[in-house]
Amino acid sequence: MRDRHDGRVTKDGIRIHERADFAGMHKAGRLAAEILDEIAPLIEPGVTTGRINEAIHARVDAAGAKSATVGYRGYQHASCISVNHVVCHGIPGDKALKDGDILNVDVTVIVDGWFGDTSRMYVAGKLSRKAERLIQVTHDALMIGIEQVKPGNTFGDIGAAIQRYAEGQRMSVVRDFCGHGLGRVFHAPPNVLHYGRPGTGPVLEEGMFFTIEPMVNLGRPETKVLADDWTAVTRDKSLSAQFEHSVGVTAEGCEIFTLSPAGRFHPTWG
Ligand code: MF3
Ligand code: CO
Ligand code: CO
Repeated sequence: MRDRHDGRVTKDGIRIHERADFAGMHKAGRLAAEILDEIAPLIEPGVTTGRINEAIHARVDAAGAKSATVGYRGYQHASCISVNHVVCHGIPGDKALKDGDILNVDVTVIVDGWFGDTSRMYVAGKLSRKAERLIQVTHDALMIGIEQVKPGNTFGDIGAAIQRYAEGQRMSVVRDFCGHGLGRVFHAPPNVLHYGRPGTGPVLEEGMFFTIEPMVNLGRPETKVLADDWTAVTRDKSLSAQFEHSVGVTAEGCEIFTLSPAGRFHPTWG
């Protein structure tokens, strides 16, 4: 199939990008990752999530980029900030962080029309042992999923690897939210599930761009969305963590567009 960008789209609706498009994704991904590096020193007990979001918004503006989330389906903020039992899509506000809170900050920027989407975990103050374990398992689950990204593997291989690992650590994988194709758009086919069976789903091809963004809970996997229509929380109020990278499939494997330039992707690094 051909379309207005004169590229190919698979039968599953997944766009196959050109080699030159990787550079655009690296630029967008790098800015998103740099912003997550730069807010790290801000995160401490007493700071509000709204203040963290303001710093992110200012940095997006200063870079001459655009936030993909401002105005997205009525969302008003330049980030999602999800604290403790919030699974994803936490709305920044005037609540102050407390010692020991863990949080995911998710930023998506648009640079020259390309979308860079990444999130990672932070801690305010002292990291508890159980939160540290959850964060480590969630980070490792993402990287184990990324190891499956190469032509010929399937999206089911990615999900199965993540699920097997997280459940093997006696934690659960959220089913209600998934990763997604992206590129010159924010959310495109396919849905990138973080669970599933090996060998199922679309086959990966060079030039596919998508996110992997597993959410892992210490308790049960079920979630519910609060009355604000955004904030997703664990039904059993157990602690939840998430990491997200944007990746592109190459002939050999994949390139990660959202690597941390400062090497700070994990809260216990740097
Ligand atoms: N960045 C999120 C993702 O990983 C999407 C956030 S949409 C918003 O797909 F509207 F909630 F910001
Ligand atoms: Co995403
Ligand atoms: Co995101």
